[in-house]
Amino acid sequence: MPVRPTVLTGDRPTGPLHLGHYVGSLRNRVALQRDHRQFILVADAQALTDNAHDPAKVSRNVLEVAADYLAVGIDPAASTICVQSALPALAELTLLYLNFVSVARLERNPTIKDEIKARQFGRDIPAGFLCYPVAQAADITAFKATIVPVGDDQLPLIEQTNEIVRRINRQARRDILPDARGLLSRISRLPGIDGRAKMSKSQGNAITLSASDADIIAAVQAMYTDPDHLRVADPGRVEGNVVFTYLDAFDDDSATVADLKARYRRGGLGDVELKRRLARVLCDVIGPIRQRRADIARDPDTIRDILHAGTMAARGVTATTLAEVRQALGLFELTKPDKCPAPE
Ligand code: TRP
Repeated sequence: MPVRPTVLTGDRPTGPLHLGHYVGSLRNRVALQRDHRQFILVADAQALTDNAHDPAKVSRNVLEVAADYLAVGIDPAASTICVQSALPALAELTLLYLNFVSVARLERNPTIKDEIKARQFGRDIPAGFLCYPVAQAADITAFKATIVPVGDDQLPLIEQTNEIVRRINRQARRDILPDARGLLSRISRLPGIDGRAKMSKSQGNAITLSASDADIIAAVQAMYTDPDHLRVADPGRVEGNVVFTYLDAFDDDSATVADLKARYRRGGLGDVELKRRLARVLCDVIGPIRQRRADIARDPDTIRDILHAGTMAARGVTATTLAEVRQALGLFELTKPDKCPAPE
């Protein structure tokens, strides 16, 4: 049997996942799990890099994010879901990799630059935050993943990972770690309902995967369209119109969407009618996810069991990679098996 390629992704558990996650990555993961070896990290350690003041929030959201995964159709029999902070090999790899990247390079990383600005750290950037791309390189390489399904904002992190991979391989004088490539979905970045570049819970412009029909309708009503499209008869702009961006992402009937675009451009299609269609489409996408999520959330013990089993499996995989990297770099190895003496 040919070896199935390995896929790795993760999400920071800081709140419920939303439609941006769904179109940017979750939908791809559900499709990939059939013929790939897929690992999905609940990235709680990464979430701490800008939430150190509220670890309880991060901890609480681990189960929530796992419930979101199961609700969208991630199948624990086909994908391994694991908890990042419970994988010590990731921390150890991070510590080694930190020596193969400069602070200047981290400061130049476009994703980090944008995020530092958005979080208004000023000069008080947590060191863990500046270095999280190195930890993410550890995540990706520990599983020897070659495919990383992500939104386009994550591509600079994959580039940074591959730089580290090359340096480690050069130091090791052989290719122990594979290159990874980002897999973008057709819609790799969903704008917020306010028209801002990215849907984000912290910006308050998101529609979550557990939104009620009433939430969805309210969000669609508030959605940014064409500010110059005042009367129904006026011609309207389709480009930059969030309602059309969402129809492109979620409405399977692309012929009708093309027709609506033509009518909107010509004039004669009102925002109310257009938004009514989008609300219906989104309710149809989210409704079944919300229903499954409610069923799953009733049984948190099962979610815990899934996380436990996945994390134990991931411990084996990541510890093996760590041992290979340690050996390839020529780190000191103890001659006796490393068993701790029992405490006094
Ligand atoms: N940085 C990702 C996010 O912001 C989360 C993440 C952590 C991740 N480790 C990863 C993504 C490894 C892809 C691969 O959501």
